[in-house]
Amino acid sequence: MSRIHRYEGADIIVEFDLARCIHTGDCTHSLPDVFNTSRTGRWVHPDAAPVDSVARVCADCPTGALRCISKATGKAMDSAPSINTVQLMPDGPLYVHANMALNGAPLAARRAAFCRCGKSRLMPYCDNSHREAEFSHDGDVAIPMPSEAPANGTLTLTVKHGGALMIEGPFTLLDGAGNEVCKSGKAALCRCGASQMKPYCDGSHTTTRFETDAQD
Ligand code: FES
Repeated sequence: MSRIHRYEGADIIVEFDLARCIHTGDCTHSLPDVFNTSRTGRWVHPDAAPVDSVARVCADCPTGALRCISKATGKAMDSAPSINTVQLMPDGPLYVHANMALNGAPLAARRAAFCRCGKSRLMPYCDNSHREAEFSHDGDVAIPMPSEAPANGTLTLTVKHGGALMIEGPFTLLDGAGNEVCKSGKAALCRCGASQMKPYCDGSHTTTRFETDAQD
């Protein structure tokens, strides 16, 4: 369940979705005067750095937990990427950066981290359960599966209950080291953690009896 916290500055509002945060530390390392979890009281101080810097760090939050809203326009201060990317994180989730629709509904955030260990309690999103589960995958892609890729556009993500994450639309697949693996327009990506062909679904979810909750 999302719980949005709002931190108001002179010109911007920083929104923080606690449920989507997996504590990567990108924001606290980039702008420690703005994002500081060791402070007592509120941890976000939007006016402690230039607006553009705060907006950039929010737009780069890999899970989409942070958004920077302009008070002048009422709109989020980020833009669609020139290239949609789907990146495998070693021993961790799948980072997606794109204009997205999930299960038929447009997402406000242009970034999200999706579970690929099968253990998240916030399916389809990552909640860091891969650590407890000791999920292991270095992010290498043994067999790239390129397909006809459209020029650009929205990524349509569909979660198959008890099965894969279906992706349709143009994207570039990046491995765990950030290297481009292939461009594609369609893929079924493993969410259960059991596939022998990661990141692709190979049907192993049917033998491991992968079950997820109703959020699917
Ligand atoms: S979702 Fe993991 S093999 Fe299909």
